[in-house]
Amino acid sequence: MREIGPQRFATVPVALGERSYPIHIGSGLLSWLGAEIARQTKATRAAVVTVPAVGRRYAGRLLRSLREAGLEARQVTVRDGDTHKNLREAARLYDALLDFGADRSTVVVALGGGTVGDLAGFAAATFLRGVPFVQVPTTLLAMVDASVGGKVGVNLPRGKNLVGAFHQPRLVGIDVDTLASLPVRERAAGLAEVVKAGLLGDAAFFEQLERSAERVLELEPEALLPAIERACAIKAEIVAEDEREAGRRMLLNLGHTLGHAIEALSHYRGILHGEAVAMGMAFAARRSEALGLCPSGVAGRVEDLLGRLGLPTELPRHPRRAYLSALRVDKKRREARIQFVALRAVGRAETVSLTPAEILPAGG
Ligand SMILES: NC(=O)c1ccc[n+]([C@@H]2O[C@H](COP(=O)([O-])OP(=O)(O)OC[C@H]3O[C@@H](n4cnc5c(N)ncnc54)[C@H](O)[C@@H]3O)[C@@H](O)[C@H]2O)c1
Ligand SMILES: [Zn+2]
Repeated sequence: MREIGPQRFATVPVALGERSYPIHIGSGLLSWLGAEIARQTKATRAAVVTVPAVGRRYAGRLLRSLREAGLEARQVTVRDGDTHKNLREAARLYDALLDFGADRSTVVVALGGGTVGDLAGFAAATFLRGVPFVQVPTTLLAMVDASVGGKVGVNLPRGKNLVGAFHQPRLVGIDVDTLASLPVRERAAGLAEVVKAGLLGDAAFFEQLERSAERVLELEPEALLPAIERACAIKAEIVAEDEREAGRRMLLNLGHTLGHAIEALSHYRGILHGEAVAMGMAFAARRSEALGLCPSGVAGRVEDLLGRLGLPTELPRHPRRAYLSALRVDKKRREARIQFVALRAVGRAETVSLTPAEILPAGG
């Protein structure tokens, strides 16, 4: 952690050869990000893509700092919510970019949560076959997860994230001050992915979260900044090893097999993604214990920590057959196996190949 005048910030590198980029994390970042974007992208124009709730609060500061850095900057507002993360909204975004006179020296800056990052990133990956892209995430989930790793995309009517690309940003700028306006429920949901990072990759970090859970949830800078930094670093490390998800990156799916089933069974209503992941992680921990893959006591610790963050740990009540068919989605054969992410210990995960019925045994 460095001190820059009154500000404190840290930088996490994402090592991807010539596509490497920094993640800057700190307070007061929006006001100097313009100069950093200019330096990293050499762009002459910047389209700041955002949603009303975020733009109203934070776009002004970012646009000002971009203009101070000599860029021509314009705000482009898209519709809020995952239901608008689609091709129609992408087409509106292309139009807005054309109206702005955007060319390959125009940087697309996503200012918002993961929805904005995915949509704006998808537009950046495809407009003119790719223009420079910068992520300025404003939800905790986007800070530690969606903005790291270069996956961008949109939903189709028949499924989520079915169209997309790998398009790495030139830089990620995380201004933790923006979290002040994020509803506490969204904050907690983002913390589920922070817990996941510790659980799959770093026992000491998990223990640090056990010591500081409430302070992180309350956004105390001394607890919050290191937590975001470490979670980003763990994801960055895994992405650097396996950019296109051929192996180790699959571990990031910890809690997501059941999490996605829960989201689908609730028709994506009433449950936030992070909440579904929390339930899925607690389930994965219990199941790993029951299969003798990890020592007993791990599931208890996972449930305790998630509970202290206000996150749910029990699966919602749906019939077992409903869960099984949700798990079988996209699997052509009934007995198709799933790469289930299991725990070997706190801080260590691995995939095991299981059928849906083995993941959810009758009476289990
Ligand atoms: N690309 C990836 O690797 C990846 C990973 C995880 C999730 N995702 C995607 O991310 C999306 C979910 O992201 P999310 O959880 O950030 O949701 P989101 O972007 O929909 O944001 C949630 C809500 O919070 C509001 N908001 C955002 N920042 C705010 C702030 N600072 N203050 C007040 N309100 C604010 C938004 O307007 C929105 O209504 C999904 O579409 C998911 O598919 C992508
Ligand atoms: Zn997730």
